[in-house]
Amino acid sequence: MTPRIDRDRLLGSLRDLAAIGATAGGGVTRLALSDEDRAGRDLLRGWLEEAGLAVRVDDFGNMIGRRKGSTSEPSLLLASHCDTVWQGGKYDGAYGVLGALEVVRTLNDAGNTTRRPVEVVNWTNEEGVRFEPAMLCSGAVTGRFDKSYVYDRTDRDGRRFGDELQRIGYAGEERHRPGPASAYLELHIEQGPVLEDADLPLGVVEGIVGITWIDVTLTGRADHAGPSPMPLRHDALAAAARLISGVEELSRGVSGAVGTVGRLGVEPNAINTIPGRVVMSVDLRHPDRHALESLVAGLEKRAWQIEQVTGVEIALNRFWTSEQTLFDPAVVGAVDAACESLGLGHQHLWSGAGHDAKYAQDAWPSAMIFVRSRGGVSHCEEEESAPDDLEAGVNVLLRATLDLANR
Ligand code: HGY
Ligand code: MN
Ligand code: MN
Repeated sequence: MTPRIDRDRLLGSLRDLAAIGATAGGGVTRLALSDEDRAGRDLLRGWLEEAGLAVRVDDFGNMIGRRKGSTSEPSLLLASHCDTVWQGGKYDGAYGVLGALEVVRTLNDAGNTTRRPVEVVNWTNEEGVRFEPAMLCSGAVTGRFDKSYVYDRTDRDGRRFGDELQRIGYAGEERHRPGPASAYLELHIEQGPVLEDADLPLGVVEGIVGITWIDVTLTGRADHAGPSPMPLRHDALAAAARLISGVEELSRGVSGAVGTVGRLGVEPNAINTIPGRVVMSVDLRHPDRHALESLVAGLEKRAWQIEQVTGVEIALNRFWTSEQTLFDPAVVGAVDAACESLGLGHQHLWSGAGHDAKYAQDAWPSAMIFVRSRGGVSHCEEEESAPDDLEAGVNVLLRATLDLANR
């Protein structure tokens, strides 16, 4: 008889971790390498050790809890992340790490030893909001970013990733990095409306859309808001406003595209001074790589046109692209089979959000399990999923684990 997870234990761990970095609005702010992240890591380490796992930390702060198998063949990785965005939700990332922990706890209760070792992984800096870009440390482990690039990333206050990792005491060793692995599974909330619209609790994720992040610097000329006639101005914020509407129009004009300007900085940001400089972000996504490239080309063209009209110089720095990724059919099949064996409603879908599983797929056969998000919202304090769905997702992870870790 296949064991079932302990729902209350899962919900209790989610609640306890969500208390670290809890916001007044019922969400969580636990930015990568912050004091809250350290506290969350310390709590997780205790739980992993209580569950009998050998815990190690690698040189990017990735935490790995290893459960012995009856062989020492390449392990099955069950992973996600514990860092959040500002005023994020209680489940984005944390649910996958604590779901993996619950799988291990349930295997322990059942006295079940899998053939392969099972490793629970907490990836550092998946969100990429404090230290851009996203999925930085799964990308580093799988060879997308080199160590000096990662260590030199700075936050808004100029603090370096490498220094912050030391400061919180989670600078481990290169030899502790995850891998080799036979397969990789990531359990995550959907963060979109698809499953709720279909009235289904579970999603079998086929792949992740292409994502590209562009830093835009607009350089005009600061000037007095009073005596400067409109035709003579080089207003960097007015030019930015044109570009922001450009992102909106371009993305609305291409089906399957999304475009977001999430970060904006205005200098000198004073009521009676024409802004001389603006720095803003553009996040463009599309499931098809050619469509994504044509969105970028559209943005470049729009920027050029705005320069001609406003005399404001616009520099685009496309600093990160996560190309569209298809997961491994055999691992996707194992997720399908797990949903079926539990008689749980599910459908295939694509992820509009980036995940560490994207880089995991570069190195190991990977797949993801989604559970329904209430209202389809995420990266906000209202993020919520029903306890039944949270429980179902972890039971699917358990079934797929018993399948894949015994192959
Ligand atoms: O940006 C993303 O899609 C992810 O939440 N880091
Ligand atoms: Mn996430
Ligand atoms: Mn996220």
